[in-house]
Amino acid sequence: MNRYFKAKVIENLSLNSSHNLLTLEPLDPAAEPNPGQFYMIEAGDSYDPLLKRPFCWLQKTRETIQFLFRIKGKGTSLMRAFKKGKVISVIGPLGNGYPLPRKKRTPLIVAGGTGIISLFSLINKLSHNCHVFYGARNKDELLLLNELEKLGNKLIVCTNDCSFGKEGMVNEVLSQFLSANESIKTSCLIYTCGPKPMLQEITSIAFHEGIRGYVSMEENMACGFGACQGCVVNTISGYKKVCKEGPVFPIEDIVWT
Ligand SMILES: Cc1cc2nc3c(=O)[nH]c(=O)nc-3n(C[C@H](O)[C@H](O)[C@H](O)COP(=O)(O)OP(=O)(O)OC[C@H]3O[C@@H](n4cnc5c(N)ncnc54)[C@H](O)[C@@H]3O)c2cc1C
Ligand code: FES
Repeated sequence: MNRYFKAKVIENLSLNSSHNLLTLEPLDPAAEPNPGQFYMIEAGDSYDPLLKRPFCWLQKTRETIQFLFRIKGKGTSLMRAFKKGKVISVIGPLGNGYPLPRKKRTPLIVAGGTGIISLFSLINKLSHNCHVFYGARNKDELLLLNELEKLGNKLIVCTNDCSFGKEGMVNEVLSQFLSANESIKTSCLIYTCGPKPMLQEITSIAFHEGIRGYVSMEENMACGFGACQGCVVNTISGYKKVCKEGPVFPIEDIVWT
């Protein structure tokens, strides 16, 4: 199925000063996405910015696809101003997405900051079958809390400043959990997305505990489908394109520099 399509803005809701929930209605037939896949979204009408921006899908119905985006720079500031009825160009779904765990594995979902957006569709798909560890800098930065609570998973939330949930970083909370639940180590699988220093800590925990898993990487992208080499990461088998061979990689494959 063609991955280029036009979509109409149904709603562009401001959640707080730095995050919007964007609901699009594809106007052409669009392929079904897998958890962890992403879309390239046209941010502006002119040549500046020329490049579409990558975003993971959050939720999908028969008629709509929903995205949650953080307002960061020029592209996302223009997206914040999208009005209902505007028609934009979109490419997707792109990338590989998260492989689903085998039946007897317990997924440990570890999200930092906006990493929860990539992991949300996976949590939704796994239903109440996983443990979710979600950390943010403070209470105001926490996203999708009500939705996560409704999904009925074992949810542990932490904030760096202790303004909500446990105090500390999500990697510390994961370490404490693993120390208190030795038996889970042989049967669990980690799925993680978030800021690079956090991902590096989670990789180190996985390595020391002998746990396998998957990490979703975020790099700046230009084309989004493997044509420009603009998004490579270093892996144990050489440089790989995040947009085409990722964004999800086995956690033990990434070479952190
Ligand atoms: C796979 C993936 C999924 C993502 N999913 C989400 C998500 O669900 N929600 C979310 O909030 N964020 C997500 N992100 C991050 C999001 O894509 C960025 O925050 C967004 O692209 C920022 O765009 P901006 O224009 O606002 O920021 P800017 O900082 O202005 O631009 C982003 C980057 O694009 C490059 N760039 C900008 N202009 C040019 C130019 N003219 N020429 C060449 N390069 C240029 C720059 O290197 C810049 O660092 C994801 C990223 C990836 C890789
Ligand atoms: S963004 Fe062009 S190769 Fe990945």
